Amino acid sequence: MASTSKAFNNFLFSAVLAASMAAVLAAGFQFEVGEKRGWKLPTGNEPETYNEWAAKNRFHIGDTVHFKYEKDSVLVVNSADYLNCNTSNPISKFEDGNTVFQFDRSGLFYFISGQPGHCRSGQRLIIRVMHPVEAPGLAPSPAPGRDSGGDSGEWGTPSKNSTTRVSAVSCFMTVFIGLFVMLYLFM
Ligand SMILES: *[C@@H]1O[C@H](CO)[C@@H](O)[C@H](O)[C@H]1NC(C)=O
Repeated sequence: MASTSKAFNNFLFSAVLAASMAAVLAAGFQFEVGEKRGWKLPTGNEPETYNEWAAKNRFHIGDTVHFKYEKDSVLVVNSADYLNCNTSNPISKFEDGNTVFQFDRSGLFYFISGQPGHCRSGQRLIIRVMHPVEAPGLAPSPAPGRDSGGDSGEWGTPSKNSTTRVSAVSCFMTVFIGLFVMLYLFM
């Protein structure tokens, strides 16, 4: 009797753990645009541009970017308006100083500052959100002999974000398999 209730407790624990892992994965990862500096007019002394920062990272559907700014704005624009720094026709405009934008699709997203001159000085950002089949952890295992990682695209090396995600997925799988083993043994 005691061992049955222990098994049940283990089962409950695993179920709760699996559910929280699933919640973490579904919530996505939040990126800080400009990291500590935030979203502001570049001085030219930054270690990297916004686009250099973006190229180091891997963005997935469901992930968010957080823009922190003062006396500025975030405009989501199309590619032509991005190239011309045209602020007159944004798809979306945010001015609250604390904007969280979530990626609801794969492909390219263009962000520029709405302040006059800021975009031309480099306060602009292109983010490429990976297609689900490119995303490590969601893609099937690579065929033997093929380069692992899945995304050999034009945007550089995997970041620590993708590593986190892969380990989250494998942790989730471990818990999930554990759950089934326990069901099999004790039910
Ligand atoms: C900016 O976009 C608007 C609306 O699409 C267009 O009418 C205008 O000519 C553009 N301005 C420049 C400088 O490209």
